[in-house]
Amino acid sequence: MPTQVTKALIPAAGRGTRFLPLTKAVPKELAPLVTTPALELVVAEAAGVGITDVLLVVSPEKRAINDYFGANPGLEEALKKKGDKKALASVRRPGELARIAYTDQLNPRGLGHAIGCGEEFAAGEPLAVLLPDDLVDDRDSLLGPMLDVYAEHGGIVLGLLDVGPVEISKYGCVVPADGADPNADVVELADLVEKPRAEEAPSTLAIIGRYVLPPEIFAALHETDPGVGGEIQITDAMRALCRAGTPVHGVVFRGRRYDTGDRLDYVKAVVQIAVRHPDIGADFRAWLRDYEPDV
Ligand code: G1P
Repeated sequence: MPTQVTKALIPAAGRGTRFLPLTKAVPKELAPLVTTPALELVVAEAAGVGITDVLLVVSPEKRAINDYFGANPGLEEALKKKGDKKALASVRRPGELARIAYTDQLNPRGLGHAIGCGEEFAAGEPLAVLLPDDLVDDRDSLLGPMLDVYAEHGGIVLGLLDVGPVEISKYGCVVPADGADPNADVVELADLVEKPRAEEAPSTLAIIGRYVLPPEIFAALHETDPGVGGEIQITDAMRALCRAGTPVHGVVFRGRRYDTGDRLDYVKAVVQIAVRHPDIGADFRAWLRDYEPDV
């Protein structure tokens, strides 16, 4: 019986160069989706499916992340005095979602390297990994069903999305096992390949930023040489485990997902979240109906 998954790792040490000059001072993961950063939404997603401990893999230049999840006694006192309960709750919420730990990823060498920074934290237990660029709408679920698949099969469980033939070269791509129904919600996988060329991609099923990884992943990462882009790729480490017999399953996501790592998609994500916002949603929807770009 696989152990219950209570720990999650979130890599957040990247430079965020696509968002310069903002990211000179503000970590990309704290860029607001109206008022709440993507990173808080991703921690909330993990907490919502029973994760109690979260490791944020950060870097010494990104201490604003630690500040965001830490307490701010001066601000809390001021809001208390003002009687602003709503603002006070919003300020306290990030730190109350889970027990948050931090580790620095020095000399970043890719996603596999970032996940490898969680070896001590995992301490022999399975680990959920959530990439904060990938947002799952809170009305839909992906990680919950992935944990159910892990409880049944153990091994590796991946969040998958059919991105079509044009986009697949931007992602880790998976190969369904012989006889697996590629249209099913849970697919057994036979192989994985990181960012294949479009014409060589074995499927259009992409790994989106949700993983459940067994403790053996760390030994595999130690053995993994740099791959695509000269980086230590988690896909390569998972592929080695897969070839050595670890079961690998994918949960195909059919809900709403936002990519906040790309500038255009980030703006789309802001709009999609703003139209549902409890304070400004109705007004924003009304404005949007009449909006005509003045270009
Ligand atoms: C990483 C992974 C890739 C995965 C993607 C999901 O790529 O290496 O396998 O499909 O995240 O967002 P990156 O987006 O960091 O280039």
